Amino acid sequence: MCGIVGYTGPNPALSRIIEGLRRLEYRGYDSAGVALIEKPASPLQVVKRAGKLANLESELVKNSEANTGIGHTRWATHGGPTDENAHPHIDGSGKLAVIHNGIIENYLELKRELERRGHKFTSETDTESVAFLLAEEFKVVNDLAEAMRLVCKRLKGSFTLLAIHSDVPGLVVGARRNSPLVVGVGTGENFLASDVSAFISHTKSALELGQDEIVSVTSSEVKVMNLAGESVSPKAYEITWDAKAAERGGYSHFMLKEIFEQPKAIADTLIGRITESGLITLPEIEKLNLDFDRILILACGTAYHAGLIGKYALEEWSKTPVDVELASEFRYRNPVLSKKTLVITISQSGETMDTLMALRHAKSLGASTISICNTIGSTIPRESDAVLYTHAGPEIAVASTKALLTQIVAIYLLAMNFGKEKAGVDLKKIATELLSLPNKVEEILETVEPLREMTRGYKDATSVLFLGRQVGYPAALEGALKLKELAYMHAEGFAGGELKHGPIALIENGTPVIAIIPSEESEIAAKMKSNIQEVIARGAKVIAIADSSVKIDLPTIIRIPTTLDLLQPILAIVPLQVFAYEMAVARGNDVDQPRNLAKSVTVE
Ligand code: F6R
Repeated sequence: MCGIVGYTGPNPALSRIIEGLRRLEYRGYDSAGVALIEKPASPLQVVKRAGKLANLESELVKNSEANTGIGHTRWATHGGPTDENAHPHIDGSGKLAVIHNGIIENYLELKRELERRGHKFTSETDTESVAFLLAEEFKVVNDLAEAMRLVCKRLKGSFTLLAIHSDVPGLVVGARRNSPLVVGVGTGENFLASDVSAFISHTKSALELGQDEIVSVTSSEVKVMNLAGESVSPKAYEITWDAKAAERGGYSHFMLKEIFEQPKAIADTLIGRITESGLITLPEIEKLNLDFDRILILACGTAYHAGLIGKYALEEWSKTPVDVELASEFRYRNPVLSKKTLVITISQSGETMDTLMALRHAKSLGASTISICNTIGSTIPRESDAVLYTHAGPEIAVASTKALLTQIVAIYLLAMNFGKEKAGVDLKKIATELLSLPNKVEEILETVEPLREMTRGYKDATSVLFLGRQVGYPAALEGALKLKELAYMHAEGFAGGELKHGPIALIENGTPVIAIIPSEESEIAAKMKSNIQEVIARGAKVIAIADSSVKIDLPTIIRIPTTLDLLQPILAIVPLQVFAYEMAVARGNDVDQPRNLAKSVTVE
């Protein structure tokens, strides 16, 4: 939540910062602002506006001479999305500016203390206190990085902070705790940003920053220290994708592009890890203690659905009990875990606060941990014993699509690995099917046009229900979540077997019901057909997403290719994504940046 960019170098800072903010806007989009050092020792140029980045851009003086600056796109936590609450926040002199992602939990206490010393607050944010504290410390130590270190020691909560001061032009200082910050190392210029997409068109060299580290960046140097003031060597890495991957490339929305990238994303997750003969190679987990008797999956939102879907294969192939829990619930209870519990966290961003805290909770209870993640060098994989990267490429749309499918594939890989030599597990058959999934998803996408057209016919529905059984049930939950977040419609996912225990009361004349049916061979297919008849009898309009072997007579059937029933969600979810996408477009919603949401939920 919140996108942060800092720049210093020989080029105009404003254009570098705005370009970075454009790429980070998915992280928060209710206000935006920049602060630039136009002249040494003079007040900074600060412009900030409520609303999307475009509002800020229309206010900016395009020919700024500044070579150093910071910029921010906000997802409001403390104080509404107004011009005053937008970042950057400045100190009384106007020479120091701060931007922040996260929550300063002790801000009220700090604010009272600062007010007693005569500081006048102009916003309702938790961030403004940091600007005043930093200015006070800077006055004493005359070193912005040291001042930042001293301030961070007083802060509780989670934060990424960037600061500039016109008395030290050419310097940007940053700090992070439980919130992302990376350094982009360019040629004669350097960047600080929430994620690498902000600087990808200028450099592919990045540095990871650890927990509670303070970074100072000039055009030629990057220095890092910890909270104790000791110098630290950050880990360098190269970004494996290029700027094009983070652009829309002719698609009307990032979400549509990312839906269409799914065949490649799945193939990239499988590459080098699996052969047709069923050989699995996962060097990432070789050193992990695999002597476990229970698996627990922790995640949030769509990633949680990946866990629910993966559970079926994981349990069936590894013959180990698997539980899946919402990270936000797990972290606040006293679960029974042992050294023989393997905890798998799933996160696209690798920065989701609840998942991170759940991971730490699990580790403190002695569990071994693997993360499934899409963002190289992010906090969750860094703090896990092992990581399986999904290699889906950057996911920019707020609604998760390709990240989800690749997360499920990553669980299948783990399940196969744990299922080696287990009775009744035909790894060769599973591998053949897994390797055919990219083509099968491609096939669905090639024939998706009639679904898009049909979806528009449902645009005035007040509620849509999703039904599935077994792996189809969490797929139904995902269909409903996507529709809620994109179309702002009431949507619910149900297990078919639960229908008669309450939810069937929701069916009215014309209620759209999307039902997922596995292959005709599965005993679940007949049960789903009965559920469909039950809702039709009560007036529902059913859209079936059915394996091509299913014998059923309905006005609306979306056929998907046959695969193993345990793998079917990879295919069944694709039409659900398209349905939610098209519904959002038909209802005039902002598809890539749905209201009230942000891509990376780095606050609780
Ligand atoms: C829904 C969506 C969210 C995320 C959730 C977890 O489309 O994107 O529900 O799945 O916030 O995010 P990550 O995977 O980054 O931990």
